[in-house]
Amino acid sequence: MSTEQSAATLDGISADIAGTELGPTGRPLREFPEPAPLSSHGPARIIAMVNQKGGVGKTTSAINLAAALAEYGRKVLIVDFDPQGAASAGFGINPHELETTVYNVMMDRHVDVHSAIRHTEVENVDLLPANIDLSAAEVQLVTEVAREQVLAGALRRVEDEYDVILIDCQPSLGLLTVNALTAAHGVVIPLICEFFALRAVALLVETIEKVQDRLNPRLTVDGVLATMYDARTLHSREVLARLVEAFGDKVFDTVIKRTIKFADATVAAEPITRYASNHPGAEAYRRLARELVARGGAP
Ligand SMILES: Nc1ncnc2c1ncn2[C@@H]1O[C@H](COP(=O)(O)OP(=O)(O)OP(=O)(O)O)[C@@H](O)[C@H]1O
Ligand SMILES: [Mg+2]
Repeated sequence: MSTEQSAATLDGISADIAGTELGPTGRPLREFPEPAPLSSHGPARIIAMVNQKGGVGKTTSAINLAAALAEYGRKVLIVDFDPQGAASAGFGINPHELETTVYNVMMDRHVDVHSAIRHTEVENVDLLPANIDLSAAEVQLVTEVAREQVLAGALRRVEDEYDVILIDCQPSLGLLTVNALTAAHGVVIPLICEFFALRAVALLVETIEKVQDRLNPRLTVDGVLATMYDARTLHSREVLARLVEAFGDKVFDTVIKRTIKFADATVAAEPITRYASNHPGAEAYRRLARELVARGGAP
């Protein structure tokens, strides 16, 4: 039976009659090898975490994927691209006290991006923070020359220093998100396993296609990441089956289960890979990191 057939006929049920163990996506469970060490760093592959729906796990995925890639020796820069500053707060950095953030880097050509970047407590993870100032950028950028390319220009000055740059977008498809998509090589779409979440995807895909056509032909969808999956509910399993039906192999094998540990880690302002290193949630993001590298989405 081919992978596609088993996905279609078994709808994500976790064991097949032939005895091969199937993952929640309905495909046979695969292990992804530990990424080979890198002998040098950069240029970075830039990945935007995008979904205009709020609360689907963009920030959680950016933080924990970054931390997992860093454990594998990758140098990672997280770009907090949300005026709420959630990714910054997730690393224990209070962005509202900072004078220089991604906003200043974008709006003032004389502000060097290096002056805004902070090291985090996590080895190999740096952060370009954001705060409420960024909310003004959406309007101010409208009159800029090449307004969609401002973030890309700023990141060009640091891309040789990192292996991966992860942009944590705000829940919108406005000009800031278009800037992220224009700067990126790839998009990861975190998607909560609820039916209402499926409706948002068509508009998102349309936006990605427009950016590909008009601004950034190299942009690819690296994958759709199912989050907050609950294997005990038929609802979760059905949504995941629908995702696989619609996106096929673009759906990551790695599925992130619903667990309160992520909220606990947020309170502790640490990635789950540090807060609860042996928790299945930490292991899931390590697996996602290995899968991303195996798919060519990261060095
Ligand atoms: N796998 C998970 N299981 C349970 N809770 C989760 C999981 N992933 C994220 N959460 C929690 O869900 C909430 C929303 O997650 P997160 O902030 O990552 O989403 P987001 O898409 O970045 O939201 P926004 O659109 O507002 O930026 C947070 O409280 C987070 O701790
Ligand atoms: Mg967020």
